[in-house]
Amino acid sequence: MAATTMDQLVSLCKRRGFIFQSADIYGGLQGVYDYGPLGVELKNNLKAAWWRAMVYERDDVEGLDASILTHQKVLHYSGHEDTFTDPLQDCKKCKNRFRADHIKDGKCPNCGSTDLTEPRMFNLMFKTAIGPVEDSGNFAYLRPETAQAIFTQFKNVVDSTSRKAPFGIAQIGKSFRNEITPRNFIFRVREFEQMELEFFVKPGTDMEWLETWKENRLKWWEEQGLDLSKMHILTVPKEDLAHYSKATYDLEYQFPHGLEELEGIADRQDFDLGNHTRYQDELALSAKVNKNSDSSAKLALFDDTDKKWYVPFVVEPSAGVDRGVLAVLTEAYTEETLPSGETRTVLKLKKHLAPVKVAIIPLKRNNPDIMKLAHEIKANLLKTGIGRVMLEDSGNIGKAYRRHDEIGTPLCVTVDFESIEKSPTSVTIRNRDTMAQERINVSDLPAYLKDFFLK
Ligand code: GAP
Repeated sequence: MAATTMDQLVSLCKRRGFIFQSADIYGGLQGVYDYGPLGVELKNNLKAAWWRAMVYERDDVEGLDASILTHQKVLHYSGHEDTFTDPLQDCKKCKNRFRADHIKDGKCPNCGSTDLTEPRMFNLMFKTAIGPVEDSGNFAYLRPETAQAIFTQFKNVVDSTSRKAPFGIAQIGKSFRNEITPRNFIFRVREFEQMELEFFVKPGTDMEWLETWKENRLKWWEEQGLDLSKMHILTVPKEDLAHYSKATYDLEYQFPHGLEELEGIADRQDFDLGNHTRYQDELALSAKVNKNSDSSAKLALFDDTDKKWYVPFVVEPSAGVDRGVLAVLTEAYTEETLPSGETRTVLKLKKHLAPVKVAIIPLKRNNPDIMKLAHEIKANLLKTGIGRVMLEDSGNIGKAYRRHDEIGTPLCVTVDFESIEKSPTSVTIRNRDTMAQERINVSDLPAYLKDFFLK
């Protein structure tokens, strides 16, 4: 099958209600997208799979949900105020602005002019005013990564959970970057979500953990349906490492627009906890607090063997939710030619990711007995906990199958005349991938579906 194109995905996402341009009716807000009725389900399912793997299935990770508005000092001491920048160049002819590394052969990517400004550094963080008075001292940042709050809440989490290294803190949430050139649909946007784990380890064991997390994360992406032969592990060259990193792997995926980063796994050493600790020390000094050896180890762990405080190192697997959604859609999108010569578009999503798990299709909408049974089946199936069960009311079975193939619904249950006329009451189940249909008694449905979805 030909590789999935971005146009195919953008079109499907709009047509079927996965993803829309933000403020579409006003011409759109660049680099910002909204998730529609099916997109929100898919995204939530991906995040739930990550949370389950990172928090519930492990015994060494706690969760956090911190604020988006971030104190200026946090992002000063984290190094973001000084170093979270991209070089940009302006085209003097068409007045467009580009990231310097997106300009090839000194030519404007928009109009081809070579009349460009020299590169200038541009900080990617969004600032916003806090409180009713807008002055230079009253501002906060929208966080550019979820990670910083994990570091600043480190002590509170450790004190409330008594964790010892190795252990991690996981968080899923929005991040904001004023990207100079947002592009490639939801790949590079200004508002996005991250799934980040900060895993705190003893210094010296960090490189081993970096390898462990690389393997762990690759396996997880495979479980989300990605073909590992379309993934590549980039060892980030020293000169390209983020300001906090000693070593980083980028897990790259073959997106429709090219092989690009899906997730970064970085050894952040003690860069962040160390810097925030230094600030705590400065505060203590300026307040003339009696400084003892423990106070210089505020964001630290106590080593029971050495009887000393130490600042743990951090290994950080950091994945983009939106890039994850784009990757699983790319992988799942399939066009098949049927024996009749027709083309069938089917989204072969892993069943735990499918926005709708089961569609219940009444063969005749105006038959009260069929409708009553369809409603009863839906109410019963919801109790199984398999996820969204949808009562389809298009009234046309062929159209309903096509729609549910396109949105990736693994099973369709059809309530027909036999269902209401014959005993025991039965329905047909159609499988998305094989299109095979089988008849099953309604009383057996819950067990059948639990087996299909939850095993
Ligand atoms: N805390 C580390 C960190 O933020 P990063 O490599 O800058 O590292 C991690 O970002 C992940 O966040 C990336 O691998 C990507 O999936 C996602 N991401 C970063 N910038 C993005 C953007 N502008 N649009 C969509 N996703 C983005």
